[in-house]
Amino acid sequence: MGKSLLVLGAQWGDEGKGKITNYFSNKADVVVRYQGGNNAGHTIVFNGHKYALSLLPSGIFDNNIKCILGNGMVINPLAFVNERNNLISQGFPCNNLYISDRSHVIFKHHLELDSLNEENLKENKIGTTKKGIGPCYSDKVSRIGLRMCDFVSDNFPKLYKNLLEIKNKEIISLGGTPIDYESSVKEYLAAAKIIKPFVCDTISLLASLRKENAKILFEGAQGALLDIDFGSYPYVTSSNVTSGGVISGSGIGLFGLDEVLGIVKAYTTRVGEGAFPTEIFDELATTIREKGHEYGTITHRPRRVGYLDLVALRYSILINGISSICLTLLDVLSGIDKIKVCVSYDYHGQTLHTLPASNEILKECKPNYVILDGFKEDISDVTSFEQLPLNAQKYLNFIEHELQVPISVFSVGADKKQTIVRKEIF
Ligand code: IMP
Repeated sequence: MGKSLLVLGAQWGDEGKGKITNYFSNKADVVVRYQGGNNAGHTIVFNGHKYALSLLPSGIFDNNIKCILGNGMVINPLAFVNERNNLISQGFPCNNLYISDRSHVIFKHHLELDSLNEENLKENKIGTTKKGIGPCYSDKVSRIGLRMCDFVSDNFPKLYKNLLEIKNKEIISLGGTPIDYESSVKEYLAAAKIIKPFVCDTISLLASLRKENAKILFEGAQGALLDIDFGSYPYVTSSNVTSGGVISGSGIGLFGLDEVLGIVKAYTTRVGEGAFPTEIFDELATTIREKGHEYGTITHRPRRVGYLDLVALRYSILINGISSICLTLLDVLSGIDKIKVCVSYDYHGQTLHTLPASNEILKECKPNYVILDGFKEDISDVTSFEQLPLNAQKYLNFIEHELQVPISVFSVGADKKQTIVRKEIF
């Protein structure tokens, strides 16, 4: 019987989705990305090797798995060719790819505009990955963007020339360097030749696979709190990261999701700007950052570190319909004497139980903490919940009780083997 599972980050991204999606992708016939582009960074470790993916779905290592890049994505064709070539050189054929003809294309002018916009925002900058994500989605919504069906068509040079004329004016008005049409179009035509065989109607493909009872894994990028609608606006990405994005970004239909697995880091991190109530600045932040390798996969920026925030998670569970949780990086917490967990916010004397819309309000929220005893043991070899030290078990029980959602999976290290499944969900 076919089944579908959505794996998505429940916090501000970097929850360890790459490892978990790769873990479940072994059981999948199809892996689908439905939003974002190469702003995502998934690190996957198996057989002693570390692989970094940013655009390709994590089923890419197994040629029997169909990897779909859905219509909700924004795809930089040059980055696609690079990432694919890099994997081919490491022995992965990468022919199992299906790119939606409706997905939007990121061009050089989007990258230039991303940087210019950030510069012009000065102290209000978003802290984007500068991969052109926002400007590409802006063009999509403004109805001037080019899609993959255009990119691989004979008409592309003309369409691109017209678009670039408009976009170069914008670049010049912001003080940037215009993009050269002749050299760029050459590069794009070469990329289009490689990409064209993979471009297809992924909506019909997904529908027929579903009819054949295929097991479908949807792979979220970024995290729910970076969602353009539900996230901490304006410090968000430009796509619908949350479960609704699966429907609009893949064409699966309203009842296409059986399970929603929220990936939750045992603490919290955030890159880029924006309020972060449980952020910590002392030595403990450094310890966690180093132990958890909390540096951006794409930008290498040090991530901001904080305690677990159950207010943010309750909200995330609500907006995504999360049916169970995978708690990652639990091993990083070992050696911490007292572990704080935020259960509500104090906003000028008022207790808040859900995330406020305004970043200005969130900035002034002070976390109300419950303090739990930590654990000292190295847990990287445990293979069951029962093998965890009692205080680690208590930490999991506390989270489950507070959130009223089961922790079906937890992870105690970067290797795939260090994944403990408490309840089969896929
Ligand atoms: P953009 O997606 O490059 O436009 O960046 C917008 C915001 O989302 C910035 O704060 C980025 O740091 C953040 N962001 C984008 N992709 C990721 C990710 O994969 N992990 C964590 N944060 C991300």
